[in-house]
Amino acid sequence: MATINDNYLKLKAGYLFPEIARRVNTFVESNPEAKIIKLGIGDVTEPLPEACRTAMIKAVEDMGDRSTFKGYGPEQGYGWLREKIAAQDFQARGCDIDASEIFVSDGAKCDTGNILDIFGKNNKIAVTDPVYPVYVDTNVMAGHTGETNDKGEYNGLVYLPISADNNFIADIPTEKVDLIYLCFPNNPTGATATKAYLKAWVDYAKANDSIIFFDAAYEAFITDDSLPHSIYEIEGAKDCAIEFRSFSKNAGFTGTRCAFTVVPKQLTAKAADGSEVELWKLWNRRQSTKFNGVSYIVQRGAEAVYSDAGKAQIKALVDFYLENAKIICEQLKSAGFEVYGGINAPYIWLKTPHNLSSWDFFDKLLQTTHVVGTPGSGFGAAGEGYFRISAFNSRENVQEAMKRITAQFKA
Ligand code: MLT
Repeated sequence: MATINDNYLKLKAGYLFPEIARRVNTFVESNPEAKIIKLGIGDVTEPLPEACRTAMIKAVEDMGDRSTFKGYGPEQGYGWLREKIAAQDFQARGCDIDASEIFVSDGAKCDTGNILDIFGKNNKIAVTDPVYPVYVDTNVMAGHTGETNDKGEYNGLVYLPISADNNFIADIPTEKVDLIYLCFPNNPTGATATKAYLKAWVDYAKANDSIIFFDAAYEAFITDDSLPHSIYEIEGAKDCAIEFRSFSKNAGFTGTRCAFTVVPKQLTAKAADGSEVELWKLWNRRQSTKFNGVSYIVQRGAEAVYSDAGKAQIKALVDFYLENAKIICEQLKSAGFEVYGGINAPYIWLKTPHNLSSWDFFDKLLQTTHVVGTPGSGFGAAGEGYFRISAFNSRENVQEAMKRITAQFKA
C-alpha cells in the first residue's frame, strides 16, 4: 500500500477558515432565517477596478486572434508586468529591485508555503504568535516541526509572542534562528512596523545569516507616510529578505489570483557542502518546474493596476475598506471593546469581553448577532482571548453588523 506524508497527521483538524465556514453552515442549517454578515475571512467584496476589467476584456480579445494569441507564458511572469512592478512598487520608493527579481504568481499564500521547497529541513524557524496560520501549517506539512504541546504550539518552531504588552511587535530573539516570518501591516493584529523596527530585524538577520520572509500583502493599506511599504526600504534587506506581495487585497484579486514574490539575486543560503548558493536560481528553477505562470488575461488585469486610472481606482477601493475599518473601530470602542489595528490595516483585533475564550466569543457573536469574525486563538496560542474583525465587506453590511454588535454588547 502507498504511504502518506505523515506530517499531515500532525496538523490540527482543519485549516482555520474552513472550520469557521463549517460552524457557520451548521448554525445556518438550524437558523435558516438568520441574516449572516461575514467579517471573518479577509475576502474582498467590492467589484474589480474598471481599469483591470477593461484590460482583461481586451486580453480575452487578444486570445481570439491568432496574431495576438498567447500560449504558455514565461513561468516568472511577463516582462511588461515585472517591469512595472519593479519601477512603481520598488524603484519609486528608492528600492533597488530589478524586474528580473520579481516572480509573478497566483498568490502570496501559495508562495509563502512554496518557498519552503528551496530551503533545508534543519532550519530553525521563528513565527510570531499569533500569526497567519499558513506559515505554521506549511512548515508542519514539510516536516519542519514535531507534534503540538498542550497549548497547541508545534515543537521545533520558535514562537515570538505579540500582545498588547509589546504593542503587537515581537521582540528581536536573543537566540539564533535561520528563517523568520514577518507580516506588516500585520495579519491578524493590524499592527505596523516602523523603519527602525525593520532595521533591527535586518541587522539581526545579517548578523545571524538568517533569511526574513516578509509578507507585505497589506502594504496598500498604509496611510502613515513614515511607515515602510517594503522591507527593501531598509538598507541591507536585499542581503537577507524575500518579500511577498499580492493583488488580492489592494485590487480585489482574491478570486482572480495574482501576486508576486521578490527574490534578490544577491541573496544566498548554505548548501550541505558549505558552499553559498543563490536563492534566486533555486526559486527560478522551482517555479520553472512546478509552475506555468499566471494566465495572460489576469496578468494584463494586474498590469492595469499601474495605469493612472488603475492607481486612482485602487486608492478608492483601499480608502473604502479603510473607512469600514474606522467605522468598526469607533463602534466597537463605543460599545466598550478594547480595540487594536484598523488604521493602516484592514483588520481590527479586539480583546474578547468578560475574558471569554476566542471560540466562545465567536459562538456568542454568531448566535446573538449573526455576525461572523475570526477567533484569535485560530492564529496561535497567544491569540486566545482575542478576536479578529475584517473590514472587507460592503458599507451596508459593516454598518448593520456594528449596529447589531453595539446593541448586544453596549455596557
Ligand atoms: C485572512 O482572512 O487571513 C486572509 O483571507 C488570508 C489570506 O489572504 O489567505
